[in-house]
Amino acid sequence: MHAIITGGSSGIGLATARILKARGWTVSLIARGAARLEAAGEELNANTRAVDVSDETKLSAAIDGLVDEAGPCDALISCAGLARPGRFLELDTEVFRQMIEVDYFGTLYAIRAVAPQMVKNRAGSIVAVSSATGLLGIYGYSAYGPAKFAVRGLMESLRAELTPHGVHVGVVFPPDVDTPQLADENRFKPAETFAISGTIKPMTPEAVAQKIVQGMDRRRFLICPDTGTSLLARLGGLVSPVLNRTFDRRIARLAKKS
Ligand SMILES: NC(=O)c1ccc[n+]([C@@H]2O[C@H](COP(=O)([O-])OP(=O)(O)OC[C@H]3O[C@@H](n4cnc5c(N)ncnc54)[C@H](OP(=O)(O)O)[C@@H]3O)[C@@H](O)[C@H]2O)c1
Repeated sequence: MHAIITGGSSGIGLATARILKARGWTVSLIARGAARLEAAGEELNANTRAVDVSDETKLSAAIDGLVDEAGPCDALISCAGLARPGRFLELDTEVFRQMIEVDYFGTLYAIRAVAPQMVKNRAGSIVAVSSATGLLGIYGYSAYGPAKFAVRGLMESLRAELTPHGVHVGVVFPPDVDTPQLADENRFKPAETFAISGTIKPMTPEAVAQKIVQGMDRRRFLICPDTGTSLLARLGGLVSPVLNRTFDRRIARLAKKS
């Protein structure tokens, strides 16, 4: 079995690659930075491609090359992504564009490169990583959140279109996860965004990866690594007014202090 994992050089993608490798899968990894990619490739004896997922031509050539080397793609796990929080009034338009290009189009291009073959074979699994911010609009995520909402919307349509062709479609909604992305994101997070997440301990990438692989095994559409995202994904409309009131109160308390 052959899994192609974008964002496979770090965090959730790398942890997922490790689990699949341990199960005997061949894994192929895609990311931009050569150093981490080579290290992961060596560790997992994986084929790798250093490519930006927001470049459709280069990404599809990379995926075609990986399929030539390791056989048809049995599972695509689209993990490549980046998050740049900030207050709406302070963010450059370029940040909004970058989030959509990497988080949304990066996912779309990867799926378009593998879906026709999977449909033809009537087999395969396509899993995309969205975020808790793809379930609820959260203070500080006006650029990142909409890109992750778009990933969710795409996967909902694909579930309806591709399931009848024998292809499993899943979407993952992680809460905060202890990865380099979270550390980078924290440098830009407004105090209000920190106040919302409160003292919740981030999950480990390994725990999220376990849920992803379990979701693939069970051919689940919704892959929610924790209770919070699980409730939000299933009862969104009912839960979000309560959460919004709680978060608004935390932000108001912060404003009073300063
Ligand atoms: N960590 C969290 O709290 C959290 C929460 C919810 C959702 N997520 C989502 O989970 C996914 C994985 O993130 P992570 O937390 O595991 O972060 P991570 O450890 O920083 O890994 C991100 C991976 O994506 C790659 N990547 C980033 N931009 C890319 C691009 N333009 N083209 C190709 N590869 C790219 C990175 O490698 P290079 O930088 O070398 O390209 C790296 O391999 C992302 O979609 C993220 O939005 C994360």
